[in-house]
Amino acid sequence: MDCTQTIRARRSIRKFKPGASIPRPDVEAMLEAAMMAPSARNLRPWEFFVVENPELKARLRAAHPFASMLDTASLAIVVCGRPEDQKGAVEGYWPLDCGAAIENLLLQAVALGYGACWCGCWPSPRISKLQELLNTQSVPAALIAVGVPDEAPEARGFYQAGKVTWLA
Ligand SMILES: Cc1cc2nc3c(=O)[nH]c(=O)nc-3n(C[C@H](O)[C@H](O)[C@H](O)COP(=O)(O)O)c2cc1C
Repeated sequence: MDCTQTIRARRSIRKFKPGASIPRPDVEAMLEAAMMAPSARNLRPWEFFVVENPELKARLRAAHPFASMLDTASLAIVVCGRPEDQKGAVEGYWPLDCGAAIENLLLQAVALGYGACWCGCWPSPRISKLQELLNTQSVPAALIAVGVPDEAPEARGFYQAGKVTWLA
């Protein structure tokens, strides 16, 4: 699957094959793709928590009102921002950097045959509960459910000419 196909095939997956496991090299490929994202001044102000432990996964699910797909997901990856990594440099850019990393991760998941769903954390009140569960001061930007898809929502186009201004 090339880049054009991968981008157009990606959908949020909310139903996974229960009990499927994902080999560690595949998870590492997703993390590597995330870490290859561009970041302001290349400060890479992120950190990743890979949650395979079923008990902790269930607690994350309970802490997030829109992450019920975690029930069947193989694992969760929490992408966290580290605002302090940008102190005195390009402060405030970390959510954008994390967003780029998250999208890379989602696309790599698709290219490897997995499905994923981005569950938003930042900016929301659920951040502090997630920080407590992960025992971190880093700021959860997104909780990503990853697994083997058990649904295949149709690819769809979103090109909207009205959202584009051509300044030729
Ligand atoms: C910042 C952000 C937060 C999101 N949060 C959730 C969420 O909490 N739960 C969920 O099921 N989907 C969540 N989504 C997925 C969107 O609902 C989804 O991307 C959108 O409906 C378009 O569908 P598609 O991803 O299949 O193209 C989120 C997406 C983004 C970018």
